[in-house]
Amino acid sequence: MKNSRQFTPRVGEVRSNGLPPEPPDGERTVLVTGGGGYIGCVLVPRLIDRGYRVRLLDALWWGEAPIAGFRDRVELVERDVRDLPEGTLDGVDAVIHLAGLSNDPTAEYDPDANWQMNALATEALGAACVERGIERLVFASSCSLYDGLPRGMHAETAPIDPAGAYATSKRYAEESLAALVDEGLCPVFLRNGTVYGHSPRMRYDLVVNTFVKDALLEGRLQLHGGGWMWRPLVDIRDAADAMILALEAPAELCCGEVFNVLHANYQIRELAMLVAGSVQLLGRSVVLEEVPAPPLVRDYECSNAKLSTRLGFFPSHSVVDAVSDLLARLDFSDIESLTDPRYYNIRWLEARAASAAEAR
Ligand SMILES: NC(=O)c1ccc[n+]([C@@H]2O[C@H](COP(=O)([O-])OP(=O)(O)OC[C@H]3O[C@@H](n4cnc5c(N)ncnc54)[C@H](O)[C@@H]3O)[C@@H](O)[C@H]2O)c1
Repeated sequence: MKNSRQFTPRVGEVRSNGLPPEPPDGERTVLVTGGGGYIGCVLVPRLIDRGYRVRLLDALWWGEAPIAGFRDRVELVERDVRDLPEGTLDGVDAVIHLAGLSNDPTAEYDPDANWQMNALATEALGAACVERGIERLVFASSCSLYDGLPRGMHAETAPIDPAGAYATSKRYAEESLAALVDEGLCPVFLRNGTVYGHSPRMRYDLVVNTFVKDALLEGRLQLHGGGWMWRPLVDIRDAADAMILALEAPAELCCGEVFNVLHANYQIRELAMLVAGSVQLLGRSVVLEEVPAPPLVRDYECSNAKLSTRLGFFPSHSVVDAVSDLLARLDFSDIESLTDPRYYNIRWLEARAASAAEAR
């Protein structure tokens, strides 16, 4: 399939998101768990460029190919976060914790594994940090904690009451780390909105990225129940920079604090229109189609005010920016490859489980 028109590159400077240009301290070593994943593969090179030494602990479910661009600049520990090898925290000044099951379908597929990885392993990692005198731990939590609350805008103080396996484990992880503040841990909880944009470890199971894939492959975007549901979203570059910000922020501003990380709340319908318009600019036709809503829909909004007022951070990459960037990076001669199971966490997990069963 050919891209019928050339893409016009974005003109003008990208707005700053407020991350200071230089880190406050000299060389420091950061342990990034799950650094071989979608967010990690964008975060780790940014940390390295900022002068950090990175130890990357990851079970590498997607292999080494996604980390090839920085493999020789990190210390790689290929292990499961549930089984931290001796010495993992030696010489580490701070931790950014991303490892675990990273969406609802994978958590529901294996709730026990989800609990072990997302809840218990996080609690154990926090305790290990306390033991070693490591204070700063940035935790990748999720705005899906707000799902199920009454409609409307929610701040970090909202009385969350999540029901699903994924969000329940994230809440336990937050609470278990917060309980360690009195013992000297300085956890910072980043509740990320659904992330969009390009990564060397690409995911097409996140709403904006999925729409880009569907618009290109099917020329059609389906709006379940009309697509009126709200969702907080953030660009992957801003999500990564927010983690660096949380790593570097003064303790008095962030210890034990929760921050929502989002560019904006969007309605799914609006996202479809933004993606369809961007793809139409390539001369391709994209149809929007209303279909009945499934029994369970995720519909929630939350506020990004605390991140901006307290830490001076303003996510700067819009959905339109990210979609343009994604389209500019795609190899249109191999567009069918976007259906590869490796880009869909639940399909990849099922495929791995099937091949493990076959090998037994
Ligand atoms: N992507 C999003 O939209 C989003 C939104 C909110 C929160 N988050 C959180 O951010 C984190 C990273 O998300 P992502 O999109 O990069 O996910 P991802 O699935 O792409 O990456 C997760 C990484 O962790 C590794 N991993 C998983 N379980 C592990 C284990 N037990 N031991 C060692 N390594 C393990 C995987 O190999 C992978 O490299 C997750 O904690 C997720 O819950 C993501």
